[in-house]
Amino acid sequence: MAATLLPTLSPPVSRAAAAFLLLRRAPPKPFRSHPLRRLLASSSSSPPTPPLRLLSTMPSSSAAAPARRDLLMLGIETSCDDTAAAVVRGDGEILSQVVSSQEDLLARYGGVAPKMAEEAHTLVIDQVVQKALEDANLSGSDLSAVSVTIGPGLSLCLRVGVHKARQIAKAFGLPIVGVHHMEAHALVSRLVNKDLDFPFLALLISGGHNLLVLAQSLGQYVQLGTTIDDAIGEAYDKSARWLGLDMRKGGGPALEELALEGDPNAIKFRVPMRQHKDCNFSYAGLKTQVRLAIESRNLCTDDIPISSASEEDRQSRANIAASFQRVAVLHLEERCQRAVEWALKMEPSIKHFVVSGGVASNQYVRTRLNHIAENNGLQLVSPPPSLCTDNGVMIAWTGIEHFVAGRFDDPPAADEPDDVQYDLRPRWPLGEEHSEGRSVARSLKTARVHPSLTSMIQGSLQKYSL
Ligand code: KG4
Ligand code: ZN
Repeated sequence: MAATLLPTLSPPVSRAAAAFLLLRRAPPKPFRSHPLRRLLASSSSSPPTPPLRLLSTMPSSSAAAPARRDLLMLGIETSCDDTAAAVVRGDGEILSQVVSSQEDLLARYGGVAPKMAEEAHTLVIDQVVQKALEDANLSGSDLSAVSVTIGPGLSLCLRVGVHKARQIAKAFGLPIVGVHHMEAHALVSRLVNKDLDFPFLALLISGGHNLLVLAQSLGQYVQLGTTIDDAIGEAYDKSARWLGLDMRKGGGPALEELALEGDPNAIKFRVPMRQHKDCNFSYAGLKTQVRLAIESRNLCTDDIPISSASEEDRQSRANIAASFQRVAVLHLEERCQRAVEWALKMEPSIKHFVVSGGVASNQYVRTRLNHIAENNGLQLVSPPPSLCTDNGVMIAWTGIEHFVAGRFDDPPAADEPDDVQYDLRPRWPLGEEHSEGRSVARSLKTARVHPSLTSMIQGSLQKYSL
């Protein structure tokens, strides 16, 4: 009889989601009430939650044993310059993955211009999501839920993805999971490596972030280090541009390629922040050193692209690229070594060191950080390059992790207006900061539950748990 109990939601939750949720018999963990429960839509016009009731139209057999594998999650990512969508099964099988990137725009304008990026997302979002569904051989009604990046990122860009996610969720009565972009970079490693349990140490390196975090459990992270100015990806991109590289490949990959031709010891760039015995990063100074190295060699990188450079000129540029990369990564290595020591003190059971985010697709980065992992008895887990750079799979997978833990938002109300204002999180720290000054025990006590999804769940949990 209990199997026929279904949560009654308004609007109704999709059948796939409802069937899955029936399995969640364990009583939910109590969550503190949170002022931001309605994380995604600021409209507070949702009707009150109706009580559970018997739903006789649901055949008990269909609700008998939906496995986690039956869960089908659509993930949407538009936080920066890639429009991405993917469908992933609850057990991690990737059914589709579509990415439309704005590298032409990046090459033309030298960076992400929010308004133009928003237009580019708007132009392709429908096609990208449609293709993700088609490639997975699914329609919206087959889905269990939708996950979408709600921060950190550019508000204008985030809004495009959230709008699309809510549109689909409304049409098919799907719960929504709001995802932290950097958490997704970290957690996709758990899709790749099923042995990767919490706690683990993660280095997340992208265009906008340099984070060292101790992942204690789902949604609970201690930030060991962050950048005090630029992220490493920004330093790769600017250096690549100043060296006259073809930015359509992406600055990082172009620089990595050229560095293979250069002498990494040709120029003695200073390693940043050696005097600071912490795990923070700084790349602004290294960028300036690259700029000065180019200027002092009178390389006309603004006028002459690398493809037209003389052999001698090309070699000089390659030497700068290789020297930059050596020092940029040495900075990572030094901070990671310290972070491993801190993390092992806090959580001696750590076995894995995760390296993810766009820059983690760099082979030199992976090789060097693998040494750090091995020297400390840890296993390096770094997703394949297509899952390191921004993608929809990581959003879908993180959505799955939270959905299974009962953290999601109700489907949008059927009468939700199309122009509803979303509560996005352009700046959103991933966990509480840990500073060396604080004792390990104290930092563990104060590690804050990741605010992301605590906010949207209280009511949902009560409704869904049987
Ligand atoms: O994670 P991601 O795709 O987007 C953000 O969240 O920012 O990271 C993009 C960054 C860019 O700076 C890009 O140049 C860098 O990752 N990147 C690389 C490589 N591939 C991408 N940097 C160095 N080497 C690479 N092979
Ligand atoms: Zn990213």
